[in-house]
Amino acid sequence: MALIEWNQSLSVAIKQFDDQHQQLVAMVNQLHQAIKEGQGADTLHLILAGLVQYTQSHFAAEEALMEQYDYPDYPRHKQAHVDLVRQVEDISAQLENGNRLQPVSVMQFLVNWLTNHIKGEDKRYTVFFQSKGVV
Ligand SMILES: [Fe+2]
Repeated sequence: MALIEWNQSLSVAIKQFDDQHQQLVAMVNQLHQAIKEGQGADTLHLILAGLVQYTQSHFAAEEALMEQYDYPDYPRHKQAHVDLVRQVEDISAQLENGNRLQPVSVMQFLVNWLTNHIKGEDKRYTVFFQSKGVV
């Protein structure tokens, strides 16, 4: 069973970002699956590296649209993105240093990391972007 199920509670009602969020959910689920299967550090590291990379390109897409429309909360949202990327990079670095990850706490962290950001920060831009005609 997947760790996170994407459903309407995670929708920001902007098609491209819902699609990207679904991809992020899929990647967190993939990591969860790999940990459950007892995959080695190399595999976990590869998945995490992919997650970091995809997260960065997704955040860049959100930020580009915020800049384009002068989103008033842009600086704060941008800072939240910087913090989120750093947190995942930290996990990645721990793995690189040969530390064993605590699967439960890492997954719990990532679920919160993703769902809290989408439900909190991201949902705040829905009405704004919709008012600009973005769907
Ligand atoms: Fe965001």
